[in-house]
Amino acid sequence: MVDASEFIDEAVEEIREQIGDANAVIALSGGVDSSVAATLAYEAVGDQLTPVYVDTGLMRKGETQGIRETFDFMDSLRIVDATDRYFDALEGVIDPEEKRAVIGEEFIRVFEREARDVDADYLVQGTIYPDRIESEGNIKSHHNVGGLPEAVDFDGIVEPVRDLYKDEVREVARELGLEEVISERMPFPGPGLAVRVVGEVTREKAEVAREACHVVEEELEEYEPWQAFGAVIGKATGVKGDNRVHGWVVAIRSVESRDGMTARAQEIDWETLQRIQSRITGENENVARVVYDVTHKPPATIEYE
Ligand code: XMP
Repeated sequence: MVDASEFIDEAVEEIREQIGDANAVIALSGGVDSSVAATLAYEAVGDQLTPVYVDTGLMRKGETQGIRETFDFMDSLRIVDATDRYFDALEGVIDPEEKRAVIGEEFIRVFEREARDVDADYLVQGTIYPDRIESEGNIKSHHNVGGLPEAVDFDGIVEPVRDLYKDEVREVARELGLEEVISERMPFPGPGLAVRVVGEVTREKAEVAREACHVVEEELEEYEPWQAFGAVIGKATGVKGDNRVHGWVVAIRSVESRDGMTARAQEIDWETLQRIQSRITGENENVARVVYDVTHKPPATIEYE
C-alpha cells in the first residue's frame, strides 16, 4: 500500500464507479476489516449502502451496543437479533467444519432477507489479503469469504481492502478517524465464539467464553497480542466452597502474529495469569479450571476449532 490517505481517495473513487446509482449491502462484524470497508463504501455512496449487523449470540461482550454507537452516523444501519435461530441451528453440532457450515448458512439466510429487502445489487465485503490466501489453501472455510456471494444473486462484489494486510487496514482505519477500539482491535473470527467452544455450542458455554474473552482482552492489553482470548475446551473436576464440582475448563490463549498464518504463543507473567484465573473462576461458579496454552502455530491453530 502506498499511503493511507491516497489509498482512501482511490478506494472511494473506485467504489463509487463500481456501485454507481445501485444499492449495496455490507455485513458489519465489529472488526476492523468490515468497519473500514463499510466506512469507505459509506463515504462513496452514502445511504445507498445498507450496513447489516447480525447478532448471532456468538459475538464479543457489548458488541451490539458498541456497533450501535460507533456507526450511529449511518442512517441506513440495520441491527438484526438472530440469537435464537443460531443456537437452535447449532444444537447437537459437534464437528468444527459442520459448525462453520451451519453458521455460514444461517448467516446467508438472515443476510439474504435484508439484501432483498433493500434491493441490493452489490455486496461490499471486508475481505483482506490473508483471508483470500487461507481460503484458496482451504485451511479452514472462512465464512466471510465463501458462501455469501454465490448464495445471493448480486451483480457484483466490492472488496475495497482485498489487497491489504491487517496492519495496513489498521493504518487506513486510523486515517479514516475510526475510534481506537475499532482500529486497534484484535481480529475476531467470523464464526465468533463458536470456534472458542470445543464441541456443542450452547448458550451457557458461549456465555462462559464471552466473559473469559472479555477478561483476557482487558488483562492482556499491555502485551499487545495479535489475538488473546479464552475458550471453553471441556469439563474437569474442581472444588468450590465445600463441594466438588464438574465444571468448565477455560483455556487462555495469547499470540503474536502478523497475519494469522503463523503465530507464537506469548510469554505472560505469572501474576497476570493468576489474576486472569482468579477473575474467571471467581465470576463464574461453573468454571473449575483455567489453563494457559503455550503452543505456537504451527503445530496448533490460533482458534480451537
Ligand atoms: P486459525 O485458527 O486458523 O486462525 O489459526 C487464523 C486466523 O483466522 C481467524 N479465523 C477465522 N476467521 N472465519 C473467519 O473469518 C473463520 O472460520 C475463522 N477461523 C479462524 C482466527 O481468529 C485467526 O485470526
